[in-house]
Amino acid sequence: MKKIAMILSAAAALALSTPAMAQSQIVIKFSHVVTNDTPKGKGALKFKELAEKYTNGKVKIEVYPNSTLYKDKEEIEALQLGSVQMLAPSTAKFAPLGAKEFEALDLPWLFKDDATYDKAMKGEVGKWLFKKLESKGISGLAYWDNGFHMTSANRPLLMPADFQGLKIRISGSKVADQYFRNVGSIPQIMAFSEVYQALQTGVVDGCENTASNYTTQKFDEVQKHITVSYHAHLQYAVIVNSKFWSGLPADIRGQLDKAMAEATDYTNSIAQQENTDALDQIKKNGKSTLHYLTEDQRKAWQTAMAPTYKWAKGRVGGEVLDLLSKELDIKMN
Ligand code: LMR
Repeated sequence: MKKIAMILSAAAALALSTPAMAQSQIVIKFSHVVTNDTPKGKGALKFKELAEKYTNGKVKIEVYPNSTLYKDKEEIEALQLGSVQMLAPSTAKFAPLGAKEFEALDLPWLFKDDATYDKAMKGEVGKWLFKKLESKGISGLAYWDNGFHMTSANRPLLMPADFQGLKIRISGSKVADQYFRNVGSIPQIMAFSEVYQALQTGVVDGCENTASNYTTQKFDEVQKHITVSYHAHLQYAVIVNSKFWSGLPADIRGQLDKAMAEATDYTNSIAQQENTDALDQIKKNGKSTLHYLTEDQRKAWQTAMAPTYKWAKGRVGGEVLDLLSKELDIKMN
């Protein structure tokens, strides 16, 4: 009798749980700080489209762009706490995760072009950096490209001396802090969502970013001069909470991996064009004058910022620098 009751109650429990499980949708909150109309914004929406399609709607991706859910530092904390499941921060913001090694990617004139960058991230360097996240409970899924940084202020920035005394907003990397110090400016870390107002009100004098970030945040409307310096690269790592990711049913995770691989190819294939279009848009807007460095000016910047390489060893460690040096076939100092 007792046995029958037990079987009945087990069957009832199963009857209750099965439909509920079948219906329950997995929700992935994907938070980021740029607009939908940027390479990363478009990449996140592409991932949503493909992930929902490949899982037949078993997974819902909620994309929160433009810091609508969290600002830079908050979103990293939220990922660790599990309040959000997916992010794609710029790798310049990884020190609070305990992974300063990523800042090596911010070294000035490290990558000679997008293809070189892409090769490095697909190779040893990219894999090695993702391993650094494992002990933090974070898994890296992909690297997304957003091209090269420009620099701006309300005066032309043509020679290193032009930076003297300017307060420059940076996103987080101490390597960027260092190269801006090398040219006599005063770098200041600030959340991306606060930059427009800080430039407008003079809290900071200048900043660095890619063309698509300038147009979509309207930085060109509050900066009179932009130098197309392309002095450093901006890349993102799509990251997830490892516990959450490994807890997903294997078939679902496989479908999401496929969606991520395709969304990554898509994002990386549009990044360059998006930034070229944004640069044209800045020209058309006419609010900011664009400057292109001459060979001599570029060399002067490179010489002034070169001490960052030696300094970086103490910050990011020799191992990642050796890997980069091997991969890119360059000498580090
Ligand atoms: C920044 O803070 O300048 C960038 O990292 C923003 C972004 O995500 O492109």
